Amino acid sequence: SILMKGVRHLSDSGITRLPDRYVLPAPDRPGAAPATTSRVKLPVVDLARLRDPSQRAAVLQTLDAACRGYGFFQVVNHGVDGAVIAGMLDVARRFFELPLPERARYMSPDVRAAVRYGTSFNQAKDAVLCWRDFLKLACHPLRDVVASWPREPADLRDVASGYAAASHGLFMELMEAALQALGIAAAAADGGVLGELAAGSSHMMTVNCYPACPQPELTLGMPAHSDYGLFTFVLQDHVEGLQVMHGGRWLTVDPIPGSFVVNVGDHLEIYSNGAYKSVLHRVRVNSTRPRISVASFHSLPAERVVGPAPELVDEAAGKPRRYMDTDFATFLAYLASADGKDKTFLQSRM
Ligand code: SIN
Ligand code: FE2
Repeated sequence: SILMKGVRHLSDSGITRLPDRYVLPAPDRPGAAPATTSRVKLPVVDLARLRDPSQRAAVLQTLDAACRGYGFFQVVNHGVDGAVIAGMLDVARRFFELPLPERARYMSPDVRAAVRYGTSFNQAKDAVLCWRDFLKLACHPLRDVVASWPREPADLRDVASGYAAASHGLFMELMEAALQALGIAAAAADGGVLGELAAGSSHMMTVNCYPACPQPELTLGMPAHSDYGLFTFVLQDHVEGLQVMHGGRWLTVDPIPGSFVVNVGDHLEIYSNGAYKSVLHRVRVNSTRPRISVASFHSLPAERVVGPAPELVDEAAGKPRRYMDTDFATFLAYLASADGKDKTFLQSRM
C-alpha cells in the first residue's frame, strides 16, 4: 500500500533478517561477495579541458567513445561549487532523518506529482520490493515548482534549487558537446534540439536513500533498468553501490568524490540512432554503510516525440533509421511491458 513505511524505518527498527517481500528470486540476487564483480574507473570527461579550445576535440573524442562503449562516464573539473554538492548530499541525508510522518506527507500515488516520497522502485507494481526510499522532485520550471517542495529541512528548497540549476547548466553544456561529437549542428541559434532544450526541457530529480541492509546479498537498492531521458547525472556519496552492465558483467562504479556519474538515456540512444547506448544499471546495498545519491534526469519536454536526428539517417548512404518515434505514452507502455528492460520494440521495423 502507499502507506508503506519504507526501508529507512525498517533499518532503524534494528531488524537482523531481511523481510520476505524484499528477497529476490535466486537468479536475480546480486550474489554474496562484492569481489565477484570488478570495480571500474569509468571514462573521465574533464570539463576544464572541454572548455579549453585547444583540448576540446580530444575531450569530445573521449566523450564519444564513452557514450558508444559504456553509455556511462564521470565528469570532473565541472566547476560546480563544492559547497553546492556537499550541501545537496547533506540536506538529502537530513531529509531522510526526519520523523516518518513528516516524510510521509509527500507520499503520492501520482507518478507525475511535483513532489513524491516513496519506497522501492515502483511500489505499486513491484512483486519484490527494493531496498530504497526516495524523494522525487520536479525541477522544471524551477522557479514555479520549488514552492511545492518539502518545507523541511528548512534549507531544502534553497539548497536543492541551487543544485538543480547547476545540474541543468552542466546538462546543456554536455548536450552541446554530445551533439558536436555526433556531427549534429549544436548551436542554439540554429534552432536545433539545443534551441528546443533552451526553450524548455524536462528535469526530474530523485533523491535516494539506501539504508544499511541486514542481508544485502538477497536484494537490490534498485533493479536493473535503463533511464528514459537524454542524460542522467548521478551524484553519489563516498559509498559504492551503482553497477553498470558492460560486456555481459556487472561493473561497480568507483565513486570519485565531488564528480558526477553521467549516463546516456533512451532518448539519446534513439536520437543518436543507436550510436550512443542507454545501458542497464542497478544499485547494490551493503550491511554497514547507508548510501545517499541524487539522480537528475534531463530531457526534452514530456510531450515531445523523439526519433532519430535527421542528420544521422540517410537510407541511400546505408544509414537506415533504427528507431521508431516515441512519446511519453509509448514509454509508459514500455515500463508496463514484460520487465521494463526490453527496448527492442522501440527499434524501427522500417
Ligand atoms: C539510478 O538512478 O539509476 C542510480 C542512482 C544511484 O546510484 O543510486
Ligand atoms: Fe537509472
